[in-house]
Amino acid sequence: MDPNQQLLHQPTVLVLFGAGGDLSWRLIVPAIFDLYVNKHLPEKFMLIGVDRQDYKQQSLADHYREAIKQYSRYGIPNEQTWQSFVQLIHYYQGDITDQNYYTQLAEILAEQDRAWDQLAEKVFYLATPPFLFASIAKALGVAGLGKERSETRIILEKPLGRDLVTFHEINETLSAHFHEQQIYRIDHFLGKETVQNILALRFANPIFEPIWNQGYIDSIVITVAETLGVEHRASYYERAGTLRDMVQNHLLQLLFLVAMEPPVTFDADDVRNRKMDVMHALRPILENEVQRYAARGQYGPGWVEGIKVLGYREEEGVSPDSNIETYCALELHVDNWRWQGVPFYLRTGKRMPMKVSEISIRFRDVPHQAFPASAGLNAQPARLIIRLQPEEGIVLKFLAKQPGQHLILRPVEMRFSYKETFSLPSPTAYETLLWDIMRGDATLFTRADQLEAAWRLLMPVLDVWESNPGVNFPNYSAGSWGPDSAGILITRSGRSWLTPTLHDK
Ligand code: BG6
Repeated sequence: MDPNQQLLHQPTVLVLFGAGGDLSWRLIVPAIFDLYVNKHLPEKFMLIGVDRQDYKQQSLADHYREAIKQYSRYGIPNEQTWQSFVQLIHYYQGDITDQNYYTQLAEILAEQDRAWDQLAEKVFYLATPPFLFASIAKALGVAGLGKERSETRIILEKPLGRDLVTFHEINETLSAHFHEQQIYRIDHFLGKETVQNILALRFANPIFEPIWNQGYIDSIVITVAETLGVEHRASYYERAGTLRDMVQNHLLQLLFLVAMEPPVTFDADDVRNRKMDVMHALRPILENEVQRYAARGQYGPGWVEGIKVLGYREEEGVSPDSNIETYCALELHVDNWRWQGVPFYLRTGKRMPMKVSEISIRFRDVPHQAFPASAGLNAQPARLIIRLQPEEGIVLKFLAKQPGQHLILRPVEMRFSYKETFSLPSPTAYETLLWDIMRGDATLFTRADQLEAAWRLLMPVLDVWESNPGVNFPNYSAGSWGPDSAGILITRSGRSWLTPTLHDK
């Protein structure tokens, strides 16, 4: 049977730990609702919300109703749909640090199997603070809901650990109680349509692959800029910082997709093995080279999109002498045949002038300049820009002759816009990821070896930054493109960060 059809017939219980939390409210439950509206949930489906808070069944549903209104792609279509969705939601309050809770949970799940007269898939989604991951995984295992049950899966959100040591601690507990195939580590960037489209661009078209190498590509810049500040997440962010929050996962994943070799098939392990090859080829950053290859920043007060905003150290819950970075830039090198000599520049920050995520591939200059210098050849190198958000699409920038008697070359562009081309609305990242988890497809999830290698790569930077407080913090104004040190990092090689330009604006 087609796996999608099979999913619809496979009874499933999703146990959502942290059901009352922000992640469930803003992202997970609206995505489940959208899957429901699209008839992508199994016919027999149950959502069991788990939280310490004493919700009544109805009050949890009301709490979600508001979230769906704000964050679902459909809003609340009509009372009938909403009422039938509410029937799927159950609540099981309790102390998740108590082993008895899990014994009872196992009994509830077994009862449901009996009621359906079928063995349901059990998906445990840990939308909780990370410090609870290991204890919940262990308690599920001890209750007999882990390794020995092929129908169970466990989902974890990033961050897994805050360094290599804590990653190992969590992972050891996880793998003591669950097999690797049962573990789904979410990096929500991988669920974004445009991120998946990188593979389609590269491997569904024969024209890009022949030039996708050091012979034609000069350098690659990956930018993920946000206008938001730390918001209400200071307690998490003060322990994380941008390198852990964004680079260790999202930006490295983007780099893998751009740099990986073509997989033989699109099977989960085939794709993930090719990403691991890139990880292996990434040149380590030694402690004494951190200053050369990495730059960090922290925003001070400023203006973002016409609004006056506070500096990071003035935000609620942030220490007034915080050493946490809200911006970072890295220069990385992939030491293999394809990418030798092509630097990858990564930058990401909060309180930037605009929200934009893009991968900009700069091509080499032509080898011979037949045009007179006055023509302006090499005024701007050709670039391919993969825009991930907000204006999803692909732009090819190249030179054309300006009309007229004089030979003058001008940069022009060809554009593909998702919105203009496809009238279909894209599923949200969480819809895609939840659908894949229920189908048992792990392609878009991070494997333990990838995460371990990512921590290993970044540990020298984290260690050096932690032992050397950012003496000049804050070193960029909110609403600017980051600290001067990031400019120096790239101009050293004669290149520059180009400011993204959005057409929709
Ligand atoms: C999360 C980070 O993983 O990604 C946030 O924890 C960040 O700090 C967010 O704001 C960005 O995701 P998106 O989908 O809004 O680009």
